[in-house]
Amino acid sequence: MKAHSLIRSAGFVGLALALHGTAARADADTDLVKRGEYLARAADCVACHTASGGQPYAGGYGIESPLGTIYSTNITPSKNGGIGNYSEAQFDAALRHGIRADGAHLYPAMPYTSYVKLAPDDVKALYQYFMHGVAPVDGAAKATELPFPFSVRLAMAGWNMLFLDKAPFQPDPAKSVEWNRGAYLVEALEHCSSCHTPRNALMAEQSGQAYAGGALGAWFAPNITADPVSGLGGWSESEVVEYLKTGRVPGKAQAAGPMAEAVEHSLQHLSDADLKAIAVYVKDLPAIRDVHDQQPGHVFGSSNSDEATLRGVAGVSASNSAGGAELFSAVCASCHQPAGSGSKDQYYPSLSHNTTLGRGDTRNLIAVILHGVARKADGKDVFMPGFGADSLVNPLSDQQIADVANYTLKQYGNPALKVSAHDVAAAREGGEPPLLAKLPRLMPWLIGGLVVILGLVAWLFGRRRKG
Ligand code: HEC
Ligand code: HEC
Ligand code: HEC
Repeated sequence: MKAHSLIRSAGFVGLALALHGTAARADADTDLVKRGEYLARAADCVACHTASGGQPYAGGYGIESPLGTIYSTNITPSKNGGIGNYSEAQFDAALRHGIRADGAHLYPAMPYTSYVKLAPDDVKALYQYFMHGVAPVDGAAKATELPFPFSVRLAMAGWNMLFLDKAPFQPDPAKSVEWNRGAYLVEALEHCSSCHTPRNALMAEQSGQAYAGGALGAWFAPNITADPVSGLGGWSESEVVEYLKTGRVPGKAQAAGPMAEAVEHSLQHLSDADLKAIAVYVKDLPAIRDVHDQQPGHVFGSSNSDEATLRGVAGVSASNSAGGAELFSAVCASCHQPAGSGSKDQYYPSLSHNTTLGRGDTRNLIAVILHGVARKADGKDVFMPGFGADSLVNPLSDQQIADVANYTLKQYGNPALKVSAHDVAAAREGGEPPLLAKLPRLMPWLIGGLVVILGLVAWLFGRRRKG
């Protein structure tokens, strides 16, 4: 072989190697983007960063807070309105510490208090996905305009000092690899606590009450600790997996409202191994018992029918004068059956042995009658119409909803519970306002002022430490 052809073939080999290297790198990049996509699903970024009917991740979804509406921002890679100019370090600061590229503090409506536990490699993958796997959409989302003093974003520095635990996720060497994977998914990515943990007067999660149940507007995210009476102690691991994957477990519960969204956008897309890990971890959450609870929510109920006494009653309809039994017969029984036992295949679920009617809290029963159920998961569409003001079938009054709710509680659920027309009216307004909003008008100002002062102290303190 002549010298120059040797050189040439060496050149070819080199070129081939170089090409191979580029291809390998491209593969690695695609893998990273794919991993980022999976993580974004697990973290459910889309749920908050997409307005209803809007483009994915273009922002503009309004999150009601007692301080006012906080709008999510455009996190597509557009350089005009999105986060296209974010460096990886800036993305990391927004995600894990709630600090925007321009240095301003984000409100904790963005769950950085959970994402602070994300592993650096996962942040890297998420960044690659948002830069290369998401379609850019130009234009900033609707701006958040909270009243003074909440408009002072620096106040969040004080809030962070009080409530942001910056400790990274620490695996527990005494527990299994699966338990630790579950802990990471639940605590960091899926941010389950942001809904299931009650909040204090300053809207921070109460650490001593982790997963004991939290209010979400008209809805209630129940106790999911391992307690056998108030929590999930009576659920098997595979039932928890089934609930997260499909949104339903016959004889236990169905997912409506915000939980239906979490199942639809996030949980159903997780691998079976990840769902099992979540179940293992959740089943081991330190038990917290509500002293008012006598027995687990799913234990309540028997099949009772008043249909025999109603038969022959002329023109039973959802008229104003109809009592709970008549209303149930007119507007619920066609699906849930006169005895409340549900359809044979349980597509229309039994109302007995259903946590929504058995637990010591009526919020989800009221919310489900007002808003119905809409969930796409497990390849199926699940639909129950709502009976609120915008009902297409049959808007019911506050008193009618209270009557039918009380009837179902008495027949199929926890008969000790009562729903009043006032409860229904509050639910229509988005639930009882949290303490912060209920205090006399001056109080939020005082608290806000205090937070601003704390913010300034934190800022000075930070400067002192740096200088
Ligand atoms: C529970 C709702 C919620 C979830 C889930 C959520 N975000 Fe956010 N995010 C928000 C809100 C609200 C804001 C704006 C807050 C503000 O203006 O102070 C925000 C702001 C941001 C910002 C700052 C952008 C800017 O304006 O410069 C980034 C970046 C971001 N989110 C990324 C993400 C990513 C990535 C995920 C998923 C890993 C995610 N968010 C999940 C609610 C959410
Ligand atoms: C966006 C808020 C939100 C998030 C995030 C969320 N949940 Fe829920 N969850 C709810 C609400 C609300 C309900 C009640 C749904 C209903 O009864 O229709 C619920 C119900 C449940 C139930 C049924 C409990 C019962 O007694 O009926 C389980 C189990 C559950 N969630 C587990 C989880 C786990 C595990 C995570 C994290 C992987 C999670 N949830 C994340 C809001 C949320
Ligand atoms: C058109 C059929 C239909 C009608 C009418 C109907 N439901 Fe439902 N209901 C459903 C379906 C479907 C589900 C959800 C099943 C699932 O999630 O898998 C459901 C779920 C429920 C749940 C459990 C929700 C949860 O979050 O746990 C309750 C409670 C309930 N219905 C009560 C009622 C009451 C009370 C009425 C009458 C005011 C009524 N339903 C009318 C179809 C119906």
